[in-house]
Amino acid sequence: MKRTNTILLCLCTFLLLQTATAQDAKMKAHIDGLLKKMTVDEKIGQLNLVVTGYVPTGTTVSADTEKKIIAGQVGGMFGSHDPVRMKAIQKIAMEKSRLKIPLFFGLDVIHGHRTIFPIPLGLAATWDMGLVEKSARIAAQEATAEGLNWTFSPMVDIARDPRWGRISEGNGEDPYLGSQIAKAMVRGYQGDDLSKNNSLMACVKHYALYGAAEAGRDYNTVDMSRSAMYNYYLPPYKAAVEAGAGSIMTSFNVVDEVPATANRWLMTDVLRNQWGFKGFVVTDYTAINEMSAHGLGDLQTVSALALKAGVDMDMVGEGFLTTLKKSLDEGKVKMADIDLACRRILEAKWKMGLFKDAYGRLDESRPAKEIMTPENRKAAREVASHSFVLLKNDKQILPLAKTGKTVAFVGPLADNHRDMLGTWVIGGEWEKSVSVMEGVKNVAPKLATFYAKGSNITDDTSFIHRLNFFNQPRVTLDPISPETLLRNALETSAKADIIVAVLGESESMSGESSSRTDIGIPESQRKLLEELVKTGKPVVLVLFTGRPLTLEWEDAHCAAILNVWAPGTEAGNAIADVLFGDVNPSGKLTATFPRSIGQIPLYYNHKPTGRPYNGSYQTKFQSNYLDSSNDPLFPFGYGIGYSPFVYEEMMLNIPQFWEEVHLI
Ligand code: BGC
Repeated sequence: MKRTNTILLCLCTFLLLQTATAQDAKMKAHIDGLLKKMTVDEKIGQLNLVVTGYVPTGTTVSADTEKKIIAGQVGGMFGSHDPVRMKAIQKIAMEKSRLKIPLFFGLDVIHGHRTIFPIPLGLAATWDMGLVEKSARIAAQEATAEGLNWTFSPMVDIARDPRWGRISEGNGEDPYLGSQIAKAMVRGYQGDDLSKNNSLMACVKHYALYGAAEAGRDYNTVDMSRSAMYNYYLPPYKAAVEAGAGSIMTSFNVVDEVPATANRWLMTDVLRNQWGFKGFVVTDYTAINEMSAHGLGDLQTVSALALKAGVDMDMVGEGFLTTLKKSLDEGKVKMADIDLACRRILEAKWKMGLFKDAYGRLDESRPAKEIMTPENRKAAREVASHSFVLLKNDKQILPLAKTGKTVAFVGPLADNHRDMLGTWVIGGEWEKSVSVMEGVKNVAPKLATFYAKGSNITDDTSFIHRLNFFNQPRVTLDPISPETLLRNALETSAKADIIVAVLGESESMSGESSSRTDIGIPESQRKLLEELVKTGKPVVLVLFTGRPLTLEWEDAHCAAILNVWAPGTEAGNAIADVLFGDVNPSGKLTATFPRSIGQIPLYYNHKPTGRPYNGSYQTKFQSNYLDSSNDPLFPFGYGIGYSPFVYEEMMLNIPQFWEEVHLI
């Protein structure tokens, strides 16, 4: 029996390999034929990625897109999720351009498309690959229903610095967990067959080391040993490649002194030769142009450097489009370099099924049936409730009873929709999110509740100005004065037995270009919390955040702290599920919470020192601080639940362990 099974397995594998080889041969023949017909300009055109739709104020945008598509000067575009518009654009490529090569349609679908899931740092806290994959699958279903075929996700940059706003977009500090999540996300997006109409090509980013920006300041320089790269920072990108990610995005920073976007060691030696990557490389937004500011030369020079290093597609900057032909004529790049990049783009289009059916994902009837369905919202609620991390629960104050005691919900995030979704949400509509107050009413309709805003998210007008980028009023000052807001909150709280303070970061306080040097709860809210604590009533803190925060005071004074990150569309329902005990909190931190910013970088897998702290400040000349403990406030992996439990008699399967961590 066993033998028959083995023979059958071998036969199936053989047949699969045969089919794959036949498919590859078909693809090669098609692309060989196409390349023969293409002019140099048309080949370079395939390497050009243009932006449309949403674009940050002050950044470079693409012009004359339609004209360029007709002239065969565009390989793909991103920024829109309107299937009607995208179908019309695909029609231009398919009917008016000479060779009728279909376009990619990309978007930053980061943690859900229309139904929004928790921010990636929250999703990672579930430690549940099934849920991670499910969230990516639903995102792919919704995104392809709106005409998209490519997402700029997953972001798998390891980060050890909570000042960096984009720590919210990644999976934390652990390379192994980060690798498992990278794989699950790729599987979820791409499904079992990239050519299906509900498969979305993944783009793993930002290759490489973007999460190690010095001082946590976005776009800052990076300096790292090869050993740290291979052991800690590179594994998640490699895992995504192994899972078959169709594309990879370069990062803005330098790697070993050379900008990643011109780094041949990174993009050819490691990515292709060591890891066997078969997809294509796209730059980050205008990353080629920015290499001039790195000091590498004018646009022609940096574009040639990028191509020769292994970049295939230029995002928005049009350095390839405007200079590669000249570089070819001057012998600065070879025809073979352009051909190779063009081939990789065409191969991706083939694998995505675009040559078979350019309109496969452009079906206007899908959105009404597939977007924000009750099942999708149910999944978002389930995933969110599993991402929350209970950091403290004195005297089992949580879960709250659904009747009996009276509860005051206080804080600028308690009756708020705007900040429920978190950073990087293009398709999601915050107006459709569930606020905490709404969730409480849904889950505990009989509970006697009170509500007061209590404070602004911040009173600092210059901070507000920076938070309201794209000219959108994301954070506003209440017309009621801070003093009156506070007074009302104290009057409201006086009527209740328990206070639930719903505080923390607004959506725009983390994410891209949102680094902070003070990672505490904003002062206005902290002041409110102090006054609430002074009432002597138990205060439960429901904390919204896109990063680890410094919470020593809060930990010392609040009865309970439930960290909910930015939970997504179903925020309020999921929070109420956990607050009232329908779901036992099970999230565990994947990034260390320091006591103070002075301790950063602080992470669990650091190397030993020759002078470790021995637990006593009596001994001098040890690795410790004069004014702080070395320990984090909440370590990596931390998170409690409502029921006590113990792990015991744990066993390590050594051979499998070593295999999994790639050491043998
Ligand atoms: C970000 C990328 C993103 C790209 C396109 C860049 O500014 O760094 O993560 O995918 O914009 O929106």
